[in-house]
Amino acid sequence: MRLETAIDAGGKERRLPDLPPLDCLDPLLPGDGPWEVELGFGKGRYLLASALKHPKRRFLGVELVSKYYRLLRDRARRQDTSNLLLVRGEALYLLSSVLPRAFASRLHIYFPDPWPKSRHYRRRLFDPETVDLVLGALKPGGELCFATDFIDYGQRVLEILKGYPGLSVEHRSSPWPDGARTNYEAKYILEGRPILRLVARLSDHQPDTRLPFHPEGRIGIVAATATRTRPDS
Ligand SMILES: C[S@@+](CC[C@H](N)C(=O)[O-])C[C@H]1O[C@@H](n2cnc3c(N)ncnc32)[C@H](O)[C@@H]1O
Repeated sequence: MRLETAIDAGGKERRLPDLPPLDCLDPLLPGDGPWEVELGFGKGRYLLASALKHPKRRFLGVELVSKYYRLLRDRARRQDTSNLLLVRGEALYLLSSVLPRAFASRLHIYFPDPWPKSRHYRRRLFDPETVDLVLGALKPGGELCFATDFIDYGQRVLEILKGYPGLSVEHRSSPWPDGARTNYEAKYILEGRPILRLVARLSDHQPDTRLPFHPEGRIGIVAATATRTRPDS
């Protein structure tokens, strides 16, 4: 069964096809507070706590699994939040085709699915061929916060981010100042699992809202173009 993308803004739920193109999210959640985005929010602990703690900021959460989307939607309605926009859908699809670009001042990605088989790497949020889409949500000067317990994947993410033009990356050696942010993080801290945390900041001087391709990802694209333009023999 194909699941519809559902959008919940301030207690009002709509289907994606009923909305105008989302070039800007302001009509869905009016105000002038900065946008923060969490991709794959799971049970939504961090997103809800942040929305309640920072009423002047606006939060967008994206989650693939309907059960989690509904869980947070219902919790947020009970708390009467008016600064939380939730979207049930696939993050890479939404980033490529639905959501605006360069609008978020902060992007949160905690314990994303690592897709350990190499043939599935392109489903990762951080792969040289997908990282441009993900970072494309950030506006110049925007910040990414990332954590994972898959240390090999985390090291690969660190490598990918370090190779990204205009991005400075810090490998945090200590927990977040506000403690465990998500359910997975709280559980893994209790279990004593190692966690890799990164903070990356996009340069203030990005010349364009369309970010450059990651140098490793670009290689595949150039090869594809060359194949398609070869004249028939
Ligand atoms: C391992 S859980 C982590 C949940 C939460 N971030 C935490 O730290 O507790 C990964 C979450 O990402 C969601 N997810 C995985 N791939 C996704 C995608 N492509 N788009 C949106 N959500 C996704 C999953 O449904 C799941 O809720």
